[in-house]
Amino acid sequence: MTPRGDPRGELPEDPRSGLRVWLNRRHVLRLAAFGWAYRWQALGSMVAMLAVTATGLTGPYLLRLAIDKGIAGKDLSYLGWVAALYLLAGMLGAVFHGVQTYGVNWVGQRVIRDLRDRLFRHLTSLDIDYYSRQRAGWIISRLTNDIEALETLLVDGVAQLVVNSLTLTGAVIILFGMDWRLAVVTMAVMPVLLLGTAVFRVKAQKAYRRVRSAVADVTVSLQESLSGIRVIQAFRREERNMQAFSAVNDVNRKANLDTVYLSGVYFPSVEFLSAVSTGLILLYGGSRVADGDLTVGILAAFIGYLSSFFDPVESLSELYNTLQSSGAALEKIMSVLDTEPGDAELLGALTAGGIAGALACEDVSFSYGADSEEVLDGVTLSIPAGQRVSLVGPTGAGKSTLAKLFLRFYQPTSGRITVDGADLRDYDIRDYRRHVGYVPQEPYLFTGSVLDNIRLADPQADRAEAERPALELGVHDLFLALPAGYDTEVRERGLALSAGERQLVSFARAFFAKPAVLILDEATSSVDPGTEYRIEAALSRLLEGRTSLVIAHRLSTVENSDRILVMEDGRIVEDGDHHSLLAAGGPYARLYRSQLRSVEGPA
Ligand SMILES: Nc1ncnc2c1ncn2[C@@H]1O[C@H](COP(=O)(O)OP(=O)(O)OP(=O)(O)O)[C@@H](O)[C@H]1O
Ligand SMILES: [Mg+2]
Repeated sequence: MTPRGDPRGELPEDPRSGLRVWLNRRHVLRLAAFGWAYRWQALGSMVAMLAVTATGLTGPYLLRLAIDKGIAGKDLSYLGWVAALYLLAGMLGAVFHGVQTYGVNWVGQRVIRDLRDRLFRHLTSLDIDYYSRQRAGWIISRLTNDIEALETLLVDGVAQLVVNSLTLTGAVIILFGMDWRLAVVTMAVMPVLLLGTAVFRVKAQKAYRRVRSAVADVTVSLQESLSGIRVIQAFRREERNMQAFSAVNDVNRKANLDTVYLSGVYFPSVEFLSAVSTGLILLYGGSRVADGDLTVGILAAFIGYLSSFFDPVESLSELYNTLQSSGAALEKIMSVLDTEPGDAELLGALTAGGIAGALACEDVSFSYGADSEEVLDGVTLSIPAGQRVSLVGPTGAGKSTLAKLFLRFYQPTSGRITVDGADLRDYDIRDYRRHVGYVPQEPYLFTGSVLDNIRLADPQADRAEAERPALELGVHDLFLALPAGYDTEVRERGLALSAGERQLVSFARAFFAKPAVLILDEATSSVDPGTEYRIEAALSRLLEGRTSLVIAHRLSTVENSDRILVMEDGRIVEDGDHHSLLAAGGPYARLYRSQLRSVEGPA
């Protein structure tokens, strides 16, 4: 289900997260499903873990045999055999430990890679709507911090969990098997240990939740500041942003220190309990040895097994923290994967094949969120295939919104949009978009050359093909004038180009795909009037036989269109060609006169 909270605001956190999240079996199963492809390697690692545990548990037992039979019995050859076995166990332990480490990482790293890939793929399929509600930093944090937390779980956690639980169980069984009364004495500290561990867990759970959200806040703050760095510097916001960052950074420190404080109390306490236990064994066991009721070997073995008992308890408690972090991380990751891909992914059956490009709106209303104002208010409109339509109107009228609806970035709240008479919803959206050229109001360029940015729709296209749109638009020379011509690197977001140059690239990119429908949103607003005039001259020819929706503020660029739509407050208020609208003396005529005045100066 798509979490639908405050439509304008941040997506809500899942209220369940944090409450014993690591026990969320559904999520764990889904994670395990990622490992299914590597099940044999995982099984191999599991066998290695068993071997590590078994070899680890043999030590104190061999010690007992050495003392009781070898030393006490003065049997040197027996002693020799025990020593050899000890050596063998140590060697096998080392080898299996190596195999275990490699195997677990082999599987873990692959699962992590697959999960990250899946997340990325899923993110690219989500509605634009999702991105206007969710901060980029939050999303990045899922792919970095949260994945990292899961990595800790998969490569350390699983092995620790298996080896330590087995060691603990094994040690208890062996202790009771050797001497149950001494075993009971050894366990005398158990109630205190269990109580302390329970308290630690509850507190650690809260503390680690705070750590996770603090870490995410740091990423969010960093990401926002970095993308806005120019504005920050221009408006001398450095100090304010620094303070904001410092604040979340310090919350992160506090949250981490809280966990350190907990660990600082808990773990030394466990060690102290271990000492208490040793004391008890020495006192009780020693007195029984003195009475001849117990062998020295067993006493020594008990003390040897103490670490097989307390170390796993410590490790498992520590592991509990890992489970906490990764449980919370898993919860967040799954919440992203659970966000329905929205309409972008719903592939209608209709392929756009060779669409003619007749666009229509039937009583279309739209608002960006359930409780926000209507941006489009009952727009009814029919654009025959091949018509050149201009859309004008004041800022905030809803022009770009209408354009985005034709690209199906959003769905109408009511009414429907049709293409060639069929509901846009019924089209295979990716196929449909292949036939629609779009120059957004804010062009976006990717790292790479100008050429690569133009042939985005078909990276395999050759140079001549990629240069053709600019040639046809009459701006080829402008591209050649760039520092390295078409091979100029545009760097991240195209920041190495001027705003007008970025628009030209975006423009050429839209024409490159030879679309049947072209939607140009203020596509030439940043280029100089001379260049705009050149493009305008070429456009008449280029738009021939194509449906086009051209949004423009400068009315000089719309005069030549077949039809002009005037939009105000989410409604089409005028519809006609330049001359008829001028003659009508309505909103278009007023707009036109005011622009003339601003060019000619006050009359
Ligand atoms: N992602 C969004 N979320 C919420 N509201 C939005 C969003 N985008 C636009 N709006 C609102 O919708 C209204 C119409 O915006 P739109 O971008 O369609 O205007 P426009 O006619 O293209 O204006 P301009 O001429 O300035 O480009 C505005 O009032 C704006 O605040
Ligand atoms: Mg706009």
